[in-house]
Parts: sequence; structure tokens; C-alpha cells
Amino acid sequence: DWVMGDYISEAVEKIRQQVGDEEVILGLSGGVDSSVAAALIHRAIGDQLTCVFVDHGLLRLNEGDMVMEMFVGKLHAKVIRVDAAEQFLGHLAGVSDPEAKRKIIGREFVEVFKAEAARLKAGLDGAYKGAKWLAQGTIYPDVIESGGAKSKKAVSIKSHHNVGGLPEQLGLKLLEPLRELFKDEVRELGVALGLPHDMVYRHPFPGPGLGVRILGEVKKDYADLLRRADAIFIEELRNFKDAETGKTWYDLTSQAFTVFLPVKSVGVMGDGRTYEYVVALRAVQTSDFMTADWAELPYALLKKVSGRIINEVRGINRVTYDVSSKPPATIEWE
Ligand code: XMP
Repeated sequence: DWVMGDYISEAVEKIRQQVGDEEVILGLSGGVDSSVAAALIHRAIGDQLTCVFVDHGLLRLNEGDMVMEMFVGKLHAKVIRVDAAEQFLGHLAGVSDPEAKRKIIGREFVEVFKAEAARLKAGLDGAYKGAKWLAQGTIYPDVIESGGAKSKKAVSIKSHHNVGGLPEQLGLKLLEPLRELFKDEVRELGVALGLPHDMVYRHPFPGPGLGVRILGEVKKDYADLLRRADAIFIEELRNFKDAETGKTWYDLTSQAFTVFLPVKSVGVMGDGRTYEYVVALRAVQTSDFMTADWAELPYALLKKVSGRIINEVRGINRVTYDVSSKPPATIEWE
């Protein structure tokens, strides 16, 4: 609309004045904030922006391809996709403690990103003059939280990997064009910049990704099974509409995902017995993610999802639904 159009022109002008003819690097995760920041900065300075997308192998099904299709295919932005799946899985081998897994994923992420940023800063690719700026999709609530809203932090007992200090370490100036915006405003901005509704209104996805949705040790086979099961769950949540509100169950839930349980249970198939893995479906409703209720999904939806997962994902023969609220359970299982 008109107001948002005005806002975009102003923001674009501000970025151009700040950056001049210098180059900018941005870590693109596929999440809402970094995507909107990328789209806005690209609108302002085009090819002076290079996005770095680190694929740690713990993303959802086709996530990497979708990010590339959107930013390279549609927006024509420069994106370097770093396929670091083997490296991450290698470092995670034999590790089952949730916090240890988070630390490894966070540390590797910074390592991979730093290596790529250093290359771009040095202008090693010929095409680049050498980046001077690091852009981040920091939004206003992040600014408040790191400014020390203690009450909020106390409830967050899991270590979130944060990339604080990166600009200093890399000797880059910091560009944060979303610093003054609330989440809703970031979403509106994203839509106005031409990002698809489904991307801008996505549920949050944790930095360590499927690494904390595979209980215990992370293995590639587990991740592959989980990705397929989760894609079915999300697809059906988007398909099923609530008759009263007309909204999809994806939009009626705040976060929904599938968890891989590395235990086997017995099932039957034809005349035979199966002995395969179990997944749990998790769907919650919450306003702040500090407390959350499990979502009362329609039985028809649960039935469709479990039927499809068991029929389509060989290797999983049992689907359960998590009916625990937070507290005392957390939203993620790790
Ligand atoms: P819990 O499981 O603590 O999750 O109830 C609350 C919200 O935080 C997300 N979450 C994470 N996000 N890195 C992240 O970036 C993490 O390590 C992490 N752990 C949990 C979770 O998905 C939920 O939205």
C-alpha cells in the first residue's frame, strides 16, 4: 500500500546513503528476518549485495532449493550457497547431548560463515571489490532482548546460537535495516517487497534446525526420514481449513513440526512384521513462545497425516501426537 511504499523508498534511500558504492555481505537463513533484510537491501543496492546461504544439512525438505529459487531465480540476487552438510554431520557424529549439539552447530555455522565472509572481504572472486559491510536481519525485539530484558531471558533455558560480535571479528561495518521494526511490520514489508506470503508468514525454525528435532545422535538417515515426514505434516496443515474461520491449520498454529524418535516399534505390513522408527507430531499455539498450549488439531487431519507418513515414508511405522503444554514441557523436544 501507499504507506509501505513510502517506507520502502525511505529505507532504500537510507541504505544507499550509508553504503555508497561499497559491498555488503548478508547471511541468508531462509527465515523471515534475513529474507526480508536481503530483499530490502537488494532493492537498494542490487549486485553490491552478496548473500551467503549456509546449508548445514539440517534444513527442511527442499529448503535450500527454495531459497535459491526465490532469491536467485526471482529476485536475481547474488547468493553463494555453501553446502556444509558433511562437515556438520561429521562434527555431530557420536554427540547426543542437546546443548552439546547446539554448541557444535552454532560454532560450525560461525566458522563456515566467517570463512566465506573473509573470502568476500578479500575480494578473492575477482568479481568482488571486497566487502565492507555485514548486514543482519536484527529486528526491534532482538534489540530489546540483547539490551537486557532479564525476565525474558530467564525463561529461555536453551542456548540459542547468536552471531553477536561477528562484524568486529571480521572487521566489517554493521548494516541493520530492520532494527526499528516489529515482526508484523517486517512481514508487511516482506510482502510489499514481493516475497511470497507463505515465506513471510512462516512458523519460526530454530537455528540448529533438525539437529534438535532428532533426539540424541544426529544421523543423515534419520534426517532424511524426518524431512519427508515433516513435509507431509506441513503440507496437510496448509491443506486443512477450519470451517469456522476459513483459516488453514498452518495459520491457526504458531509452530508445528515433526520430531524423530530413534526407537523402533513393531508394526504389520501385508503378512509381515515391521520393526521401524517412530515420529511425534508437535503443534502449538502461543503468543510469546514462553508458554504454549498443544493445538487441538482435528482428528481428520491427524488421521490423514499419520496415514500418509506411514504409507509414504518407508522406515517409519508409527506416528504419535504430543499433547504436552509448555510449561512444563518445552516446545522443542530438545
Ligand atoms: P522451547 O523449546 O524452549 O522453544 O520451548 C521456544 C522457541 O525457541 C525456539 N528454539 C530455538 N531457536 N535456536 C533457535 O534459534 C535454538 O537453539 C532453539 N531452541 C528452541 C523454538 O523453536 C521455539 O520457537
